[in-house]
Amino acid sequence: MAWFEWSSLFIRWFHVIAGVAWIGASFYFIWLDNNLRTPPKWKQDKGIKGDLWAVHGGGFYEVAKYQRGPEKMPETLHWFKWEAYTTWLSGFLLLSLIYYHGASIYLIDPAVMDLTPKEAIIRGLGLIFGGLFIYEGACRSALGRYPALFGIMLLVLIGAVSYLATHWFSGRGAFMHVGALIGTIMAGNVFFKIMPAQRLMVDAVTNNKEINPAWGLAAKLRSVHNNYLTLPLLFIMISNHYPMTFQHPQAWAVLMAIGIVSAWIRHYFNLKHVGISRPSVLITGAIGMLLIAGWVSYPRAPADDTAPLDSASISESAPAQLSATEQHAFDVIQTHCANCHSAKPTDELFVVAPLGLMLDSWQQIEAKAPLIFQRAVVSKDMPLMNKTGMSEEDREAIRKWFEQ
Ligand code: HEC
Repeated sequence: MAWFEWSSLFIRWFHVIAGVAWIGASFYFIWLDNNLRTPPKWKQDKGIKGDLWAVHGGGFYEVAKYQRGPEKMPETLHWFKWEAYTTWLSGFLLLSLIYYHGASIYLIDPAVMDLTPKEAIIRGLGLIFGGLFIYEGACRSALGRYPALFGIMLLVLIGAVSYLATHWFSGRGAFMHVGALIGTIMAGNVFFKIMPAQRLMVDAVTNNKEINPAWGLAAKLRSVHNNYLTLPLLFIMISNHYPMTFQHPQAWAVLMAIGIVSAWIRHYFNLKHVGISRPSVLITGAIGMLLIAGWVSYPRAPADDTAPLDSASISESAPAQLSATEQHAFDVIQTHCANCHSAKPTDELFVVAPLGLMLDSWQQIEAKAPLIFQRAVVSKDMPLMNKTGMSEEDREAIRKWFEQ
């Protein structure tokens, strides 16, 4: 299984690098476009519509944007598409490796829905590509001419996907699928609309033909969507570290709320770039985040199945007829895991079960077998910091049980 960890490391690393390059270039061009100012007359005569000076990294830069295009195609013209494509490709590879190859560990949560890996993968791909299909169809329909209405439709689409995903998959698998849909829509916007429009423009300049303004306008709606989707997507990329969001009973609503507030904060920067300072956007955004934090952290009455067990029912919950191997694994887990992963943890730090994982009863242990095997035998990062001093023999006992 070492190959799994190492492939995951390299692909994830690459994915983050490609993503930084993509979002970085995209933020830079949005900033650039919003900061262009009317150039002096001699530049206007050359067809330049806006110019800008900047200093960076020890030099001065002069940037000019043409109203239509240069008179003649320059020898080298830089395109920005591989940043988007490689981010998407590496992201899809990572999703396949972790959530599809490792479906029973990371994607399926029998407490949410007891799916086979095949069923879960089909549903996952259905959400991503079904969502893309609906989005593309809507962009090409008359709806594409009403940006505000379209925005609401997009919100409903992502909301529906979040709702379905959180009712099918583990919390993190669900969040990652919403992120995969958003990333796919964004890369699709580059592939299906923005690049074709640019190819038409370049072709027109090369062949001395008129540039049709409609090409750019059609691509514009897509790039506005991409702009507002970046911050929600980046949140989803780091959401794995914050179980309080994806483990929440209404995780889909938490995700939507954070997504909407972060898009609203993006709006502040978009306004700022064009010289409009509206701190109220930033302030209401911050208040929104605080409200979400309050709502997510508000203590909830435990649901019936997570009601604290008293110690009598804990010992009763181990069925009498366990095989010797099972009994051994059960004892190891009770000694080394259940002081944190319990309805009533005895650990001084973890007063509630981390990530909601409880290993009090044999049924609970069996339901989480792949996850236990992964963390206690494969990656060996459980028990946390090996706080309970688990030995190699103890890990072997879990391996023997799991492989049976
Ligand atoms: C000292 C407390 C502590 C002990 C002991 C402990 N864990 Fe954990 N466990 C945590 C914390 C904290 C997390 C959440 C952070 C993380 O995933 O790394 C966690 C997460 C997990 C997860 C991930 C759950 C999920 O939904 O992804 C698994 C599986 C797990 N532990 C298994 C075990 C097993 C098996 C043992 C015993 C061999 C064990 N843990 C012992 C603290 C503990």
